[in-house]
Amino acid sequence: MELPFAESYKIKMVEPIWKSTREQREEWIKKANYNLFNLRSEQVFIDLLTDSGTGSMSQNQWAAIMTGDESYAGSSSYYHLKDAIKNILGFDYFLPTHQGRAAENVLFSVLVKEDDVVPGNSHFDTTKGHIEYRKASAVDCTIDEAFDTESLHPFKGNIDLEKLEAVYSTHPAGQIPMVIVTVTCNTSGGQPVSMQNLRDVHALSQKYGIKVVFDSARFAENAWFIQQREDEYRNSTIKEIVAEMFSYADAMTMSSKKDGMVNIGGFIAMKDEELLKQASVFNIMFEGFNTYGGMAGRDMNALAVGLDEVTTGYYLENRIQQVAYLGNKLIEWGIPVQKPIGGHAVFVDAKKFLGHVPKEEYIAQTLAIELYLEAGVRGVEVGTLLADRDPKTRENRYPKLEMLRLAIPRRTYTNNHMDVVAVALKNIFDRREEIDHGYRIKKEAPIMRHFSVELEHAEKVHKK
Ligand code: F0G
Repeated sequence: MELPFAESYKIKMVEPIWKSTREQREEWIKKANYNLFNLRSEQVFIDLLTDSGTGSMSQNQWAAIMTGDESYAGSSSYYHLKDAIKNILGFDYFLPTHQGRAAENVLFSVLVKEDDVVPGNSHFDTTKGHIEYRKASAVDCTIDEAFDTESLHPFKGNIDLEKLEAVYSTHPAGQIPMVIVTVTCNTSGGQPVSMQNLRDVHALSQKYGIKVVFDSARFAENAWFIQQREDEYRNSTIKEIVAEMFSYADAMTMSSKKDGMVNIGGFIAMKDEELLKQASVFNIMFEGFNTYGGMAGRDMNALAVGLDEVTTGYYLENRIQQVAYLGNKLIEWGIPVQKPIGGHAVFVDAKKFLGHVPKEEYIAQTLAIELYLEAGVRGVEVGTLLADRDPKTRENRYPKLEMLRLAIPRRTYTNNHMDVVAVALKNIFDRREEIDHGYRIKKEAPIMRHFSVELEHAEKVHKK
C-alpha cells in the first residue's frame, strides 16, 4: 500500500481553543452586529478569518527571536534580513515596514498621484484602498477565467495581456506609475500567476516604460504552483523559481505575515537605489528609521529565517496539501468552490451556494454568519461588503464573485479541524433552501467598511 501523506513537523507547544453552544454563538454574533471581526477570539473555535500573522513559527524562528538586535541604527538583525532578501528574492535594496499595507503606503507615497491609473490582477483591498485614497484608480486586468469558479485554468491569477495593453495604450505613461502583480492573487482565490505571464507582463511593461511591482504576500505558494503546473519548472527548486519570478519585478511590497511566516512585519524591496532614497523619506516619517522601519530587531531575525523556510519544497507541500484536503472534501460533496483550490484558502462560491439570498443582502456575509452559528468556525466575506462603495457614485459595487474565504493559518490546525469545517459547511449546504434572506447595513465607514460595518437581519425589512 502507498503510505498516506503526513506533515513533516511535530507539535512542541499547544494553545487551547474553545467550543461553544449554538445559543452562545447566537448571542455573541448579535452583540457583534453580525460582523465576525467584532467577535472575541475565545468565541471562535476554528479561526479561518485569515492566514495573516496567525501561523506558528518554527523552533529555528523562535531561536532567532532570542538573538534579535534591538539597536536603533545598524542592527545586525537588519543585515540578516537584508542578506535573506538579496539571496532569496534578489533585491539589493529594502525598507522594513510594520506590515504589508504600510509598505504600500510608503511606496505609493512616492509613486501614485491624483488621476493615475494602476492596472493589476484583482488588487487586494488595502492596495486598492491606498490607490483610491490618493484619488487614483485601480484597473482590474485579471483573465476572465478567474471569475468562473468552475473553470480549471491552472493560473487564474494571470493578467490578461490584451486588457493590460489596452490600459497602456490609452493613457500616457506618466499617468501609469506601475502595474501591480499579486502573487498569488488573493482576491481571485489564492490563484497563482504563471512564470510565462510574469515574463510577458514584464516585457510589455518594459515596452511602455512602466514599472512592475509584485505584491508578494504569498510569493512562495505561487512558486509551488509554478513547479507543479508549468512543465519547464518541474525539476527546478522553489528557490530557483522564486529567483526567476522576482527577476521580472522592479520592486515588491511584502506582507511578511503570510509567506514571511512571522506574526507581524512587512517590507518594500527594489532594484533601483533612487527609488530607495525617495521611499526612505516616507519610511522614516511613517514607519521608522531605515534599519528597523516598524519592526523589532527580533522580528526581522525571525523573518529572515521564515523566508528561508517558506522557500523549501517540504514546507510548501505540507501547506498546500492541507488547503487541498479541505477543498477536495467540499468538492466531493458538491459544494461550489473556486477551482482549482488555491494556495492559502478555500473560497466558497456563495452565489451558487445560497441562491435565494438577494445580492443587496450580502450573500457571502450571510454564509459566513451561518458557518459561525453552525460550528464556531470563522471565515471571511470576500464580496460586496469588501468591495466597498464606488468612490464617486457612493453606490454599492457588486463584484462578479461573492466568496466566503476559509483561510488556513500556516502550521496551526490539524486535518481533524478541517473535517469539522467541511462537515459544518455540508450541514448548511443540506439546508440551504431554508436560507432566503441576508442582512442589511446599519452603520458603515467611508472606506474599508468591512472591518467595522454593523449589520442587522434583512428579514425585518421584507416583512414591513
Ligand atoms: N496584499 C495582499 C495580497 C494581502 O493579502 C494583504 C493582506 C496585504 C497586501 C496587506 O498586508 O495585512 O500585512 O497589511 N491580507 C490579509 C488577508 C489581511 O487576510 O488576506 P497587511
